[in-house]
Amino acid sequence: MSRLIVVSNRVSVAKGRGAAGAQGGLAVAMSAALHKRGGIWFGWSGNEVEHFTGQLTMERADGFTTATVDLEPQDVDEYYNGYANRTLWPLFHYRIDLAEYENEFGRGYERVNEHFANSLHPLIEEEDVVWVQDYHFLPLGERLRAQGVRNRIGLFLHIPWPPTRLLVSLPHHERLVAAMLHYDVIGFQSVEWLESFLHYCRKEHGAEVDEDSGTVRIGNRSTIARAFPIGIDHDEFMALGETEIAKRSQQRLGGSARKRTIAIGVDRLDYSKGLPERIDALERLFSGHDDMVNQLLFVQIAPPSREDVRSYQQIRATLEQKTGQFNGAHSDVDLVPIRYVNRGFCRAELFGFYRAAKIGLVTPLRDGMNLVAKEYVAAQDPEDPGVLVLSRFAGAAEQLTDALLVNPHDGGEVARAIWTAMHMPLAERKARWEKLYAVVRDADVIGWADDFLAALMQDPALPEA
Ligand code: ADP
Ligand code: G6P
Repeated sequence: MSRLIVVSNRVSVAKGRGAAGAQGGLAVAMSAALHKRGGIWFGWSGNEVEHFTGQLTMERADGFTTATVDLEPQDVDEYYNGYANRTLWPLFHYRIDLAEYENEFGRGYERVNEHFANSLHPLIEEEDVVWVQDYHFLPLGERLRAQGVRNRIGLFLHIPWPPTRLLVSLPHHERLVAAMLHYDVIGFQSVEWLESFLHYCRKEHGAEVDEDSGTVRIGNRSTIARAFPIGIDHDEFMALGETEIAKRSQQRLGGSARKRTIAIGVDRLDYSKGLPERIDALERLFSGHDDMVNQLLFVQIAPPSREDVRSYQQIRATLEQKTGQFNGAHSDVDLVPIRYVNRGFCRAELFGFYRAAKIGLVTPLRDGMNLVAKEYVAAQDPEDPGVLVLSRFAGAAEQLTDALLVNPHDGGEVARAIWTAMHMPLAERKARWEKLYAVVRDADVIGWADDFLAALMQDPALPEA
């Protein structure tokens, strides 16, 4: 069997199953996929050194090997904080107003991709399959091809693909996408992102696109583009639910709510997650109903993210101000309606919190998939399940159609959905949950990785020109 080499910017191995550490959908998914099949996980160590050397640190993890390199501060600034998180992330989440186009960012991004190709190349053996993750490495496949690598190389994009008319605002967008077409297979989280990509290839590249097979052909080179919606590690997550930690966390949160219905949000502190808009929706609900402080407790768990980037500092300040103002206006002397917590929890604790909450609020303005929505569903008590309120603009909405789907920009609609969830009869909650749970159980991360890798090994592209 061929060896798997996974490449991602962040190599985040939780110390022991269920430990805190892997925050962010990608890290959680890759730990699970590699744990099952073994191989090498290659990426940035998260450390900085004065000068880049490309020296690899190899470590044994939970059934696989990690190989990491240190980057120099200028690389981190220009590639990670710069092009990845100040240019591509906002643009790909439809926030063209936040996207910054600096030449140094683009140069830093290209340089780091070259560095990564140089460090990775010696690790690749003849039969290996290379699976690159996410927007940090769109040109990595091309760099490896330029160095003579002929192995199967795939890319999975964990974030949305923007509409063509937004993407064309990116300087050198043609070059970026042309580089991507050196991958054999490109995977997207949803059909919507896939269709945007195919539209771009046809319109801006003049590529020949076969919609049915997802084949994008330029000259005699072809790439397969398909949707592979990611899932959670269902069995592992359900096993966490059986732990004492999960049970204690459920009781701890549930007991502290003083009989109020608990609604929960769990999100990295990112402007794409729609957190201020969520508070605005709660504002409508609380100002429309006198006694709401005695009925609803909202717990928002939001670990800070990408703190060197200004827009993330701003979203944090905005949220602090809004929750403070909200609690000032709606608290009673002995009751506070929003608990706002800026820290990570281990996954077993999260399971317990999800189960204690009768409403899961997942209302991103734009999200590649959103695994929190799936974790919330998995953690529910089948005999008394909670209700998922889910943004139409999360990739997960394509699959989780039995959630209460909302437009997160429409505070009135979200407020009404929360009200509906608070009063939904048990029979309807069960009927919705059973359908949602079947999706989460049957389309999990193991199947996702198997499907992607089967496509990568199955559809040989035509040889390079
Ligand atoms: P993103 O990848 O944009 O962060 P997802 O919802 O797809 O969004 O994935 C987030 C992952 O990070 C989930 O698995 C979630 O459980 C985890 N996570 C988010 N916040 C925390 C936290 N405070 N503590 C532990 N894990 C967290
Ligand atoms: C999302 C991205 C991942 C990223 C994660 C956490 O899930 O798709 O690529 O790793 O967020 O972000 P960070 O910048 O901390 O790695």
